[in-house]
Amino acid sequence: MQLWSRRKFFLTSVASSVAAGVGKVFARPIPADAAGVSLAPAQGTRPLIISSANGLHALDKGMDILKKGGDTLDAVVATVTVVEDDPNDDSVGYGGLPNEEGEVELDASVMHGPTRRAGSVASVRRIKNVARLAQTVMEKTNHVMIVGDGARRFGVAQGFEEMNLLTEHSRKIWLAWKASSSVNWRPGIDSPEWKQQMTAIFGDDQEKIAYAERVIAHPPTGTIPCMAVNEKGDISATTTTSGLSWKIPGRVGDSPIIGAGCFVDNEVGAAGSTGKGEENIKIAGGHTIVEMMRHGKSPEDACLEALARIAHNYNGDKKKLSTFHIFFYAINKDGQHGAASLWRNHYSEPGHSVYAIHDGTQARLAECKAYFDEINTHG
Ligand code: GLY
Repeated sequence: MQLWSRRKFFLTSVASSVAAGVGKVFARPIPADAAGVSLAPAQGTRPLIISSANGLHALDKGMDILKKGGDTLDAVVATVTVVEDDPNDDSVGYGGLPNEEGEVELDASVMHGPTRRAGSVASVRRIKNVARLAQTVMEKTNHVMIVGDGARRFGVAQGFEEMNLLTEHSRKIWLAWKASSSVNWRPGIDSPEWKQQMTAIFGDDQEKIAYAERVIAHPPTGTIPCMAVNEKGDISATTTTSGLSWKIPGRVGDSPIIGAGCFVDNEVGAAGSTGKGEENIKIAGGHTIVEMMRHGKSPEDACLEALARIAHNYNGDKKKLSTFHIFFYAINKDGQHGAASLWRNHYSEPGHSVYAIHDGTQARLAECKAYFDEINTHG
């Protein structure tokens, strides 16, 4: 098994590993009870921390902080920092898949429930820990959002290390995308065909070639949202991402948008998202979900309501809706959690949709409720 992963690649492998009863995915241990992905949302319990599935191996870090009485924002930022630091996860931070120019651009946001504050950064280059940078914007400035080179310079001034965020894995996938999308970035008609060109980039690694072909055909928007409620009922959340792969430089998705990719109300709960951020921005999904919970919906039903609004934007046209995928995740003040995905199984993210939870005993996976329940075979 390869050591590198994209969120969807991770999920596929989790699903197949779960089916096979395998205890490891990408050399990371999966808790024994992950073999039985839970189907029903658990009863409320505090403290609680949840994330998208690619945070499973990092939730212990956040739970340790919660158990020691640490701040909920420190817990969620510490959790996603593990994933941002990981060169083998190409959805966030170091090693994220780059923009169309081969430059990794990161977005992140945080909300701190007890003090009702927020921080956000977008289109940040050369700094890997953008969730902590968003937290620093919140704590050290009177701004909420800083973008682009201003965010990078702010980070450097605050002591963040500058580095090249493009790993060899991500550079090669980007080169393959360039070759597939531009006649100028591949040899002329007198040259070897596509498969041979892939072999020139990846050698005989068929798994990497298949992965490259998939992310070229369906540019991913891998992300990690993470939210926590402590024993007292205080709540915080963060969302961090490298955004849409091969994007136009400067494209910003939902992750750094307070009220879309991340939202917290300390009286109610928190919500976050992964998937096609443009669809979430149009319905202010994070805020919508928290408002639905305020009016009595469970976290799962509130996530489904956000998906219903996205479906409504396309008049329920499944053909159009099948061109993208999106997930919502939520917790409430009582420590209940839920998540929902637009599709049960989408060609861009094969395998069942799952998310990661830690309720103080052990990190495990739970199944997302699907808005469209049938298997979608398009693509
Ligand atoms: N949801 C991440 C993005 O669209 O950038």
